[in-house]
Amino acid sequence: MTQPENYPIAKSQDHAIGVVGAGQMGHGIAHVMLRAGHAVMLLDTSQALVDAGAKRIIKGLARDVEKERMTEEQRQQAVTRLKTTTALADLGAADFIIEAVTEKFDVKAYVFRSLEPHCPPETIFASNTSSISITRLAAATQRPGKFIGLHFFNPVPVMKLVEVVPGLQTAPETVEKAISLATSVGKTAVRVNDFPGFVSNRVLMPMINEAVFCLMEGVADAAGIDNVMKLGMNHPMGPLELADLIGLDVCMDILKVLYESLRDPKYRPCPLLEKMVAAGWLGCKAGRGFYEYPKK
Ligand code: CAA
Repeated sequence: MTQPENYPIAKSQDHAIGVVGAGQMGHGIAHVMLRAGHAVMLLDTSQALVDAGAKRIIKGLARDVEKERMTEEQRQQAVTRLKTTTALADLGAADFIIEAVTEKFDVKAYVFRSLEPHCPPETIFASNTSSISITRLAAATQRPGKFIGLHFFNPVPVMKLVEVVPGLQTAPETVEKAISLATSVGKTAVRVNDFPGFVSNRVLMPMINEAVFCLMEGVADAAGIDNVMKLGMNHPMGPLELADLIGLDVCMDILKVLYESLRDPKYRPCPLLEKMVAAGWLGCKAGRGFYEYPKK
């Protein structure tokens, strides 16, 4: 059995992790937590959403056995450590709560404010935001010292990085615990200061946006643009394929945060990107973005 360095196998961790949001990022985060031996309480707004997330996690764990990243016994233990809920109060026993909901400040702040009465003061709140100010989100809670950004990458089970983003108020001990949690699931934690888009999206989104401008202006077609970046720069995916994977709505939201926070026109979302979001062509999840994706 192989045990690659980035897939630590269940080794009885102490942490109970709450994950809010069972979508693309939330279910991926829950998957890597379970795989590393943590217990997970997965929450979303409806039973159908948590069930869909749990189904993807269970499929992912089965794949881990198939690929010899864990044994069948470890998979069974991981499945028993997964609990799902739609009630915020069920997150009260978690040591760490990781939020992975829509990339909107108001929605995230609402989630944290609603969680507050159910959680003891020592519980750490973490946001998987891709661009929103951690300092501002922390200030919306009663525990700014126990608040931090933990930014995972899509697909979470595969990508090795977690950006660990302390806000201005985050206590050093919270930073240490966040780095230790990220490391416990086999990720490399890179500490990044709280600026719009952190490092990842400050660099990535202008590239994606520029690729959309190239498409809009007819510099090349979508496949041509992606091939230039794949074959010429050795990127694993072209920027338009990657935008489809991330979600065009998410890319637009991040660009808006960059544009509004840094007040620099270089971050303005390309009109073609805005038009595609308006049409509901959001990428892989919608079956259509820069490319078409047959329903599975
Ligand atoms: N979800 C889950 N797992 C996936 C996946 C997906 N969407 N796509 C691929 N994988 C898994 C495959 O199942 C495979 O796993 P196994 O070992 O179990 O077989 C593994 O990844 C490798 O896949 P493939 O061999 O099929 O394909 P590949 O070698 O071409 O790799 C890729 C696929 C990992 C997605 C690669 O193309 C890649 O690294 N792309 C860039 C992804 C990227 O940049 N992500 C960051 C986006 S930005 C972000 O997330 C943050 C933000 O704030 C916006």
